[in-house]
Amino acid sequence: KTEAKYIQYQGLLVSTAAHSWESLEYAQNFPVQHTDVFAVTYPKSGTVWMQEILPLVLNGGDLTPVLTIRNHDRVPWLECKQLAEIVDRLTSPRALVTHLPYSLMPPSFHASKAKVIYVTRDPKDVLVSSYYFHQMAAFLEDPGTFDEFLGKFLEGRVPFGKWTEHVKSWKSAELGDRILFITYEEMVQDLPASIRRISDFLGSNLSDEVIQKIAEHCSFRSMKDNDMSNFSHVSNQYMDTNKSSFLRKGIVGDWKNHFSSEKLVRFVSVMNQELKEESSCLPWSL
Ligand code: A3P
Repeated sequence: KTEAKYIQYQGLLVSTAAHSWESLEYAQNFPVQHTDVFAVTYPKSGTVWMQEILPLVLNGGDLTPVLTIRNHDRVPWLECKQLAEIVDRLTSPRALVTHLPYSLMPPSFHASKAKVIYVTRDPKDVLVSSYYFHQMAAFLEDPGTFDEFLGKFLEGRVPFGKWTEHVKSWKSAELGDRILFITYEEMVQDLPASIRRISDFLGSNLSDEVIQKIAEHCSFRSMKDNDMSNFSHVSNQYMDTNKSSFLRKGIVGDWKNHFSSEKLVRFVSVMNQELKEESSCLPWSL
């Protein structure tokens, strides 16, 4: 695997499989609407999960779109090539996802009232999830050993750069009541309560029955069986399911099976150094 798998756009490393200079320019010029909702994540923090939850919350729990439209077509990535092809098919209120840092959001986003749900996940679990994803996805660089990949991750030599920069950029964005911060961990712990938070934030006014139905549909098990969400349509040449699944484990704390105590010390010290005072607002102890 070679460097040509990635390009840099305004300092941001992205894979050429789903991104191009044109797609990133398209994102910069994208006319954001006031009613748009963005789920923003650092990769491997629950993006695909939000692609399942958002359409359901926005349409009163109707399962049709999540059972008939592939996740990247129903809730497209702002920065990916596909958006230009499917944008005309999206109905308002539109839901989109993005891995962009705050500084690369399009000017029309800043001028809009569009809402943001920022999902964070314990970076130790993000690293583990990303490690397996790099093993199975042929369009990403070979991660090498776990220790080698840990070094790359800490240095930001991975698509979308450093986790700390991403989180800091969105935590310091002054978006007031336009932004909701939610964690992967709270979604795992109590999905109905998390969906209730999202629904209240979006003003969806859903009954407990509908919340329950959405939570059941968005469980790890149910999403793993949903061919519109599990990437089963992608050939093994691009995503090798013999190596790992996209919906891999869906748990909190898998890092404990991967970090030596020495690596943990290194990881935590780099994170704390870069996060500085922001580390105290994170929901996990690193
Ligand atoms: P693991 O590799 O730890 O299993 P993203 O969509 O941002 O790429 O994130 C992928 C991670 O989210 C994977 O983590 C995947 O299993 C997890 N995930 C997706 N849907 C989930 C769900 N319904 N419940 C729990 N985890 C989920």
